[in-house]
Amino acid sequence: MKKVLTTAVILLGFLAVNASADVYARCVACHGANGEKAAMGKSKIIKDMTKAEIAAAMKGYKDGSYGGAMKGLMKGQVAALSGADIEAIAQKIGK
Ligand code: HEC
Repeated sequence: MKKVLTTAVILLGFLAVNASADVYARCVACHGANGEKAAMGKSKIIKDMTKAEIAAAMKGYKDGSYGGAMKGLMKGQVAALSGADIEAIAQKIGK
């Protein structure tokens, strides 16, 4: 029984790590696997932004206070993300 519980705990931990890594998965097509592409030729290279700049930009897209000509597109991308998701992405991609 103890062994089963340990396995369950390890599995849950694995799933949690995977879920946080996956929040960036939908961004890859436009921004590149590591944020190295200018999305649709329009965005900044986000891997060159600091962690704080990325988090601020994403929060700004959410509340409409940040962005250029294509900010409506990014609003759709970040609308469903939580503050924790935004932090996780900023930590992963930002410098
Ligand atoms: C369909 C393509 C597309 C997808 C998918 C997408 N983006 Fe973007 N992203 C853009 C474009 C285009 C811009 C520039 C928008 C503007 O005019 O402000 C942008 C801008 C940004 C910026 C600010 C950079 C700047 O130029 O100021 C950040 C940060 C960002 N995206 C992060 C993300 C993250 C994180 C995800 C995934 C949750 C994501 N994007 C998904 C196309 C995309």
